[in-house]
Amino acid sequence: MTQLKTMLLASATALVMCGSALAADMTVGFSQIGSESGWRAAETSVTKLEAEKRGVDLKFADAQQKQENQIKAIRGFIAQGVDAIMVAPVVATGWDSVLQEAKEAEIPVILLDRGIDGSPDLYMTMVASDQVLEGKVAGDWLVKDAAGKECNVVELQGTTGSTPAINRKKGFEEAIAGTPTIKIIRSQTGDFTRAKGKEVMEGFLKAEGGGKNICALYAHNDDMAVGAIQAIKEAGLKPGTDIKVVSIDAVPDIFKAMADGEANATVELTPNMAGPAFDALEKFMADGTLPPKQIITESKLYTPADDPMKVYEEKKGLGY
Ligand code: AHR
Repeated sequence: MTQLKTMLLASATALVMCGSALAADMTVGFSQIGSESGWRAAETSVTKLEAEKRGVDLKFADAQQKQENQIKAIRGFIAQGVDAIMVAPVVATGWDSVLQEAKEAEIPVILLDRGIDGSPDLYMTMVASDQVLEGKVAGDWLVKDAAGKECNVVELQGTTGSTPAINRKKGFEEAIAGTPTIKIIRSQTGDFTRAKGKEVMEGFLKAEGGGKNICALYAHNDDMAVGAIQAIKEAGLKPGTDIKVVSIDAVPDIFKAMADGEANATVELTPNMAGPAFDALEKFMADGTLPPKQIITESKLYTPADDPMKVYEEKKGLGY
């Protein structure tokens, strides 16, 4: 049994023993984006285990990165008459009609880890990080690390049109705005994947004198950073030294890279979005209490000073 499963089942037993397994008998549909990153794999594992722990019947649908599949899955959940729907929206726009259908069917919707560009009346709550803050924490780290030196940054953006790509870019730009010595010289999407992160970084390196003009990489997630680290090594440079690497998620592999001196900072995003979402649903089902419109998770900075090998060992069994 994995460390994650043991942990969650132990707390499940405690809950059942004190008679508060409120979610039993609840059926919840979960439209997941896909499995583009280690972080997302962990979110899926945690959601399934949280459901199991609480006795929730979870209907899981993997959209393989396509919004049309998510819309189809949500319509399917509505037709089945589920008690609630959770959705991690791949992009920000295009949700109005399907969420209106859920509203008319009186099925509460909870957004997980990403927001939408639409009326807040269309969902009950959103469990997510402050993504602008995540970008800001990454940018503040670089401003401090560069300490007044000239620094050309290349940026690997997340999926185009997704709220983390939009907001993490914004937050980082805000953080470096007062430091004219730091400039973003290239910025392109790596679609939150390792393979695309590597491919795009190879292009950046070629275009920038084999990497000589690049001081730092800012990646909107760790998976793209890990792919880019490989590209930097293949170009004969030292990631973490010749090119500083700062990213977001705090997946186990970035801690390994940090321990090897190949990455410099990451901002943690908890994969446990489902826990607070189920808590909110349980309360709502029990007495109609509506949660706040946004339940914000923490954004903590990690650097090599935080004993990365220890964090790697702690995280590696948690479903990433
Ligand atoms: O929406 C959260 C982002 O989506 C994660 O940072 C990234 O890894 C994922 O795929």
